[in-house]
Amino acid sequence: MANLSTRFPSDFVWGAATSAYQIEGAPLEDGAGPSIWQRFAHTPGKMTNGDTGDVACDHYHRYRDDVALMREIGLNAYRFSVSWSRVLPDGTGRVNQKGLDFYRSLADALRESGIRPMATLYHWDLPAALDDRGGWLNRDCAEWFAEYAEVMFRALDDRVEWWATLNEPWVVMDGGYLHGALAPGHSNLFEAPIVTHNLLRSHGRAVQAYRASGKHAIGLVVNLEPKYSASESEEDLAATRRADAYMNRHYLDPVFRGAYPEEFSDMWREAWPSFPASDFDDITAKVDFIGINYYLRGVMKNEPKTIVERATRVRPPNALVTTTDWEVFPDAFTKVLLWFRERYGDTPVYVTENGSAFYDPPVAVSDPVEDPLRVFYLREHLRAMSVAMEQGANVRGYFAWSLLDNLEWSHGFTKRFGIVHVDFATQKRTLKRSALVYRDVIGSGGL
Ligand code: FCB
Repeated sequence: MANLSTRFPSDFVWGAATSAYQIEGAPLEDGAGPSIWQRFAHTPGKMTNGDTGDVACDHYHRYRDDVALMREIGLNAYRFSVSWSRVLPDGTGRVNQKGLDFYRSLADALRESGIRPMATLYHWDLPAALDDRGGWLNRDCAEWFAEYAEVMFRALDDRVEWWATLNEPWVVMDGGYLHGALAPGHSNLFEAPIVTHNLLRSHGRAVQAYRASGKHAIGLVVNLEPKYSASESEEDLAATRRADAYMNRHYLDPVFRGAYPEEFSDMWREAWPSFPASDFDDITAKVDFIGINYYLRGVMKNEPKTIVERATRVRPPNALVTTTDWEVFPDAFTKVLLWFRERYGDTPVYVTENGSAFYDPPVAVSDPVEDPLRVFYLREHLRAMSVAMEQGANVRGYFAWSLLDNLEWSHGFTKRFGIVHVDFATQKRTLKRSALVYRDVIGSGGL
């Protein structure tokens, strides 16, 4: 008889994820320096409703309550990011002890609750002082990042179990330097490949620094989006391959295979520089795990006007979409986890983000907040992940995005991804039904 229930390994890691600028608030408190997100959010016209991370979820002051919430949900892990400019206000040099203390206290509170910390070193908030020196365009950023990473390893490696170097370098490049919707808001075809390469060099240097002293695990977090062709035409199939190279192989190929996708010189044309071959000695530094962020698939058609990939996304008929206009398509999650294993091998994988923004009814209506679409998304994606695991994907853990409703970058507070509702006027937290469903999955080890 077919076994219809889904079981997860007993040592499976169950977490939720957040990032510093999206939840902490108090971006300049206790001696912290400004980040590029502080500047970007305070630039008129950049953020929906003029929202900023000045207060966000006030997690900087409420982290103990938030850890208690995690405990209530039964999480055994939590992925947060460290704000570089809290720790090194100028990006390099002087260490701000109070900034370090915050993350140390957070990690201690987590461990006291039996929650294993995963710390991301870079979730998009570069110190503004380094942006003034060229930011990711400056080759020196690899030294800056390694210096910062070493400060963090020294201070927290006894408490943190997994380090992630960069979160979604593709988004840093595409959103921050090519299309400009994210900080630092550049739109420059010629800058984007340089940023990619410097991000990868920085990642590699941090991994090497960790090898010298680290006791736990270090990896890279990428966002992957399986690409499907809108038709069987040669043009669309070729466009889909370009879109796949652009998003999915862009960072993993250099790390695991020591080379950028072969399509790149054709795709980037004169904007693609030649990089010193010796840089790949750093870039290919062995990682202990890969973090995969999965939200949606891309159905692609040929579109010559799109600048690099010459492909554009189409919405399939009858697609279920979230309020970020992302298609809900769990099968692609199975597919991408199997694809990773097939192309890059058996490196352990953590799903470091997966989740959905939907409209939630006001808290006054119910406690818990009923969020049936998010519950559906969660269950179907956990099922899709388990299918991949049955077929050999080496998935060790899952982190729901996000613990809390938070600042969704330039969308401000208009997109709610939390499994916990946040009333931004009062900072009141209310569990959503999805948090309770997640609690049951964690508690029973299955679906
Ligand atoms: C990812 C980001 C995360 C959040 C989700 C919705 O790309 O890593 O910070 O914004 O999308």
